[in-house]
Amino acid sequence: MTASPDSVRIVEVGPRDGLQNEATVLPTEAKIVFLEKLAETGLREIELGSFVSPHWVPQLSDSAEVARRLPRREGIRYTALVPNERGMWRAIEAGVESVAVFTAATESFNRKNTNAGIEESFDRFRPVLELAAEHGIRVRGYVSTAFHCPFEGPVRAEEPVRVAERLFRLGVEEVSIGDTIGMATPPEVRALCETAASRLDFARLAFHFHDTRATGLVNVMTAMERGVRIFDAAAGGLGGCPYAPGAGGNLATEDLVYLLDGLGIESGVDLDRVVEASIWIEEAVRHPLPSKVYIATRASRTGAGLDRRRSRDLPSRRTGS
Ligand code: HMG
Ligand code: MG
Repeated sequence: MTASPDSVRIVEVGPRDGLQNEATVLPTEAKIVFLEKLAETGLREIELGSFVSPHWVPQLSDSAEVARRLPRREGIRYTALVPNERGMWRAIEAGVESVAVFTAATESFNRKNTNAGIEESFDRFRPVLELAAEHGIRVRGYVSTAFHCPFEGPVRAEEPVRVAERLFRLGVEEVSIGDTIGMATPPEVRALCETAASRLDFARLAFHFHDTRATGLVNVMTAMERGVRIFDAAAGGLGGCPYAPGAGGNLATEDLVYLLDGLGIESGVDLDRVVEASIWIEEAVRHPLPSKVYIATRASRTGAGLDRRRSRDLPSRRTGS
């Protein structure tokens, strides 16, 4: 166990991990407004979209336009997912300053998600890393299905740690460990941290929890006690993964900020402003967002209870993968 941290860094993934899973494909302008609202919150890193195949994720097929039109702000890093060299060229042409490559701890999920095994995903990353170095672009890396896989079941901690080591060796700056389908519990998070302790640099290690089974915050606490200081989250608890059956929303940014505020841990993020961004995106996606802190904060505003009841009557989101 380590002492509580003074500060934690939050990586906002709502505009990417959230919107990639929506039945409604939002207009580019709506995505930009959402990103601009998030930029007002104090968040320092925000995923703006992805340069994956538009056949696979049509929801984010306009990410180049989003990246081109989004005004840049001092101190905020915008990151986009890229799966291969083709995606990297699109990111470069769109002027993106930070990208994230993604692979998994399990073969089956990686095949479903990217039509490639883990080994082949590393073959795809090599040119991405070379281009990144040439163009001065920062690279983050994801290891999905780090605890449980929708196709292979429970995952041994050794698997994601080994994949994360490989990503660091390849030259990524930071690795995010993903509980893609939100099944991890504290003993599993502890086991992963213990396996990683002597092998991974915790200053460059993030956790990406999905709150599908309401274990997001307790998993954050467990990882923080082990020295992790970077967490991914999505405004309102938007999200999921279209290629992971049963993947529910991401850990909500509001829930995480509320916890950190209560613990006296600095995140630099203003809870009320995140709620503002969520109110706006909730109207745009036309279904209620799941974050408890979001719901409670919103309901405490005058007339908000009425608004929520009305938005519940709107067409519901797609379910499953
Ligand atoms: P593939 O079908 O094997 O690729 O897909 P391909 O090379 O055979 O190309 C097929 C078509 O896609 C071709 O177009 C290519 O040009 C095009 P066509 O000739 O048929 O019209 N294509 C592209 N177009 C635009 N940009 C590109 C690109 N690459 C190929 N970059 C591929 C392989 C990786 C492209 C595909 O599987 C894919 O796009 N997968 C992405 C799936 C995805 O985005 N999943 C969600 C993100 S991961 C996640 O959510 C987990 C995470 O949040 C962490 C966690 O929760 O654990 C990060
Ligand atoms: Mg995710």
